[in-house]
Amino acid sequence: MTGTNPFLGAQEALYGGSDRLAQRTTALHAAKVRGRPVAEVISELVDPGGTRGIVVDVGCGRGSTTAHLARSWNPRSLTALDRSPALLAAARRRLPPEAQASLVCADFHALPLAESSVDVVVAAFCLYHSPHPRQVVAEFARCLRRGGQAVLVTKSADSYRELDELVAAAGLDPHAPQRRSLYETFHSGNAAATVAAHLDLCAVVDHQHVFGFRDAEHTARYLTTTPKYALTSDQAAVADRLRPLIGQTGVTATSTVSYLVARRR
Ligand SMILES: C[S@@+](CC[C@H](N)C(=O)[O-])C[C@H]1O[C@@H](n2cnc3c(N)ncnc32)[C@H](O)[C@@H]1O
Repeated sequence: MTGTNPFLGAQEALYGGSDRLAQRTTALHAAKVRGRPVAEVISELVDPGGTRGIVVDVGCGRGSTTAHLARSWNPRSLTALDRSPALLAAARRRLPPEAQASLVCADFHALPLAESSVDVVVAAFCLYHSPHPRQVVAEFARCLRRGGQAVLVTKSADSYRELDELVAAAGLDPHAPQRRSLYETFHSGNAAATVAAHLDLCAVVDHQHVFGFRDAEHTARYLTTTPKYALTSDQAAVADRLRPLIGQTGVTATSTVSYLVARRR
């Protein structure tokens, strides 16, 4: 494996503003050809009775999952928590005013929440940003009331490996297939053991997601937001290198999305 993992440590370049994450998410959503919307699946995995209570969406990002949960669960209290002030500001704009959600800027390794005070914790696509995800799960266990539930979502370590091969073949980053998985600390293969260290694991659900990037421009829009590769941020230059390989046919990439449902003992 090559290089350090840019998903660990400082993430200012990734999450310091909301534009880069918006570009990444929009390009990925536009490519989706198979796989259910993640927020919808999360909202179905937890017993609706439990969600009338106190819900915290950890690592909420731009708040799209939080907004869905506000509407489908209509919880008594909803907190959107993230380390990035810029993403919290974007989440504030997205959340329905009637949800009266609290936005909290904090690090998930030390949640500013009282012991046994939360009914449901949601953490989607964020624990792989921790070098010590067990510590974060221990925090969830501390904050959840007895019987309270957590839904954690992550991806397989080999997600989008087809793009690694494309990036290398295009000469954009010859080491792309050897670079470490962005999801190495918390992925579909190790997440269950991590969660079970502090919570009772109730269910693991795996969904295959398939993405069809339609042409060189679309693929470049996504790739230039991927911190895994040593790439220029010049989208047009990246698209020029991809065009001879994928022309107008595009490229297909896959990822397994894993949902882990757990309860506090
Ligand atoms: C890929 S985004 C996920 C956003 C959202 N949960 C979703 O599913 O769309 C990862 C989020 O984790 C947040 N994050 C990363 N490290 C964090 C930490 N130590 N404490 C709190 N949030 C963190 C980032 O700021 C970012 O908003």
